Amino acid sequence: MITNLSSSHSKKILVTGCAGFIGYHLASRLLEIGFQVVGLDNMNDYYDAAIKQARLGLLQQNRRFSFHRIGLENRSELERIFAENDPFDAVVNLAAQAGVRYSLVNPHAYTDANLVGFVNLLEACRAAEVGHLLFASSSSVYGSNTMMPFDVHHPADHPLSLYAATKKANELMAHSYSHLFSLPVTGLRFFTVYGPWGRPDMATYLFADRIMKGQPIQVFNHGRMKRDFTYVDDIVEGVVRLIDRPPVPNPSWDRQNPDPATSHAPYRLYNIGHNEPVELMRVIRLLEQYLGKEAKLEFQPIQPGDVEATYADIDDLTATVGFKPSVSIEEGLRRFVDWYLSYHHNYSG
Ligand SMILES: NC(=O)c1ccc[n+]([C@@H]2O[C@H](COP(=O)([O-])OP(=O)(O)OC[C@H]3O[C@@H](n4cnc5c(N)ncnc54)[C@H](O)[C@@H]3O)[C@@H](O)[C@H]2O)c1
Repeated sequence: MITNLSSSHSKKILVTGCAGFIGYHLASRLLEIGFQVVGLDNMNDYYDAAIKQARLGLLQQNRRFSFHRIGLENRSELERIFAENDPFDAVVNLAAQAGVRYSLVNPHAYTDANLVGFVNLLEACRAAEVGHLLFASSSSVYGSNTMMPFDVHHPADHPLSLYAATKKANELMAHSYSHLFSLPVTGLRFFTVYGPWGRPDMATYLFADRIMKGQPIQVFNHGRMKRDFTYVDDIVEGVVRLIDRPPVPNPSWDRQNPDPATSHAPYRLYNIGHNEPVELMRVIRLLEQYLGKEAKLEFQPIQPGDVEATYADIDDLTATVGFKPSVSIEEGLRRFVDWYLSYHHNYSG
């Protein structure tokens, strides 16, 4: 297991989406434990680009970090980066157009980044014979499936948004490359990630912002929403532990009764979630407490594309890497609020 400098100092990892929320945390952690990290990001303005620039600025303080500002859609530039860095020991793809609701407004951003971009990355990994490709999928792929907790061995074929459909498509595209070219690939279904340097378009940050500005918070599904909120360090720990566990073919995989999470090819899916769903209202109450200010609430119906609840079964993750996310919502939100207040003090005045 990669846990210290001595076992990992020579390894070189490509982290796409490194200026994003999870990418920044993963790259920081990999640098901390001794990896060389090549980061890639197109620095788009889907949300405030200043926070991406600030995250990137911190990564660039480390001499083992190098950065390329390109989009995954740019095939020739991507090939150049792979050629210059041959070989990457592993590639972690976190670059994507994220967000469920925005996929109803700008579907083409999702097909460009998540489909065209992803096939370019698969091609680059195939050509360079990368030892392990890990990529971000999402809990949203469970869609209409309400069998709780969400289990990677259950079918997930009824997405409720184009975002979810592109993430499911990534899993299928990755499987075909794993089968055809023996490319070891691991798909990671993340569950509602939150924490310091979080995304301004996601609930935790949005709620904190509105509370501080005295603006109303829209609470969808009349407050009856549950999410398996997962602290970002727990996500990163899961990813780091999986990097040196490239999947192998499952010898007992049965074509008559195909398990969606494993394969005859070197392919594997995992959920990474806290395994403890929390009501959205609980998150709002904790934010009020930590920010010392009351929220104004506006209750609204459920939004198109949204699911009511998410809940991760993480038995496979625990069995493979001996790890279970552990940061409680109370502790995680407290750390988020500490960061939020200092960020707005230091960066936005
Ligand atoms: N945050 C969550 O709760 C969550 C949950 C499930 C899945 N995910 C997935 O995890 C990954 C990381 O999410 P995040 O929350 O850090 O999102 P993020 O938007 O903060 O990070 C994504 C980064 O990728 C970059 N990017 C977007 N399109 C690109 C392209 N075509 N080429 C190069 N760079 C591009 C963006 O500029 C951004 O910095 C995404 O794939 C997302 O779909 C996130």
